[in-house]
Amino acid sequence: MKKLLTLLFLASLPALTLASGGEGIKLDSVNIDLGDKVSLQRGARIFVNYCLSCHSASYMRYNRMGHDLGISEELVKENLLFAADKVGDLMKAVMPKEDAKLWFGVAPPDLSLVTRARKPEWFYTYMRSFYRDTKSPSGWNNTVFPHVAMPHVLYEWQGDQRAVFKKDAHGVEVFEGFELERPGTMSKEKYDEAMRDLTNFMVYLGEPAKLVRYRIGIYVLIFLAVFLVFAYLLKKEYWKDVH
Ligand code: HEC
Repeated sequence: MKKLLTLLFLASLPALTLASGGEGIKLDSVNIDLGDKVSLQRGARIFVNYCLSCHSASYMRYNRMGHDLGISEELVKENLLFAADKVGDLMKAVMPKEDAKLWFGVAPPDLSLVTRARKPEWFYTYMRSFYRDTKSPSGWNNTVFPHVAMPHVLYEWQGDQRAVFKKDAHGVEVFEGFELERPGTMSKEKYDEAMRDLTNFMVYLGEPAKLVRYRIGIYVLIFLAVFLVFAYLLKKEYWKDVH
């Protein structure tokens, strides 16, 4: 029985990986660390500055984010409040949904849960896989999300990439890799690092309570350790009379 189950599981693996990725494109791994506050703060800054113009994260309030990431209300007000008036506001996109739909053909989706609906690796690879495509209305395409309606908003950082495709034995075009046509203001390593910070922040955004849970978790473990001593002493006390 066990063997049969293992076999079934192994047989379904290719289907599982195909269902989660973008048309068989290899996703790059990303080091997520919700304990890295500096990385989360950098990610928050990128998100607020470059994504909130079109996308919302409408389950999150600015002051909650500030509190979680250790950013004071003054700093939130000065540096992160472009799209709202009050620190208690929800993180709503600047551009009304109807206008965005008119501009791009599709309304930019709310990004609160994107790293849970997709995967952190998907998001990280997506943000690094935009390439120039003269046939697309925005001038951009993406190997992870073919014919995406989103333009590459960070191209000044990353530069312009060209995607190289090669025909395989069956005449099907297979993605080979990227070639940098015009460098951006960041090196590849710097851009990857910035996208890792952004992915880290998106993972936090998908489940903000995780940070609180980690903190409480440590106290719970300390409590259990102390409790164990008392429980042990109590057990000894009870069993003394039985023996
Ligand atoms: C100019 C408007 C605009 C900006 C700015 C923008 N996006 Fe988008 N984005 C879009 C549109 C439009 C789509 C929908 C694409 C589609 O469905 O073809 C999209 C789709 C996405 C998706 C895919 C969502 C999904 O699951 O289908 C992700 C992820 C994403 N954007 C991330 C970002 C991030 C991160 C930023 C900031 C660095 C950003 N976007 C900035 C317009 C924008």
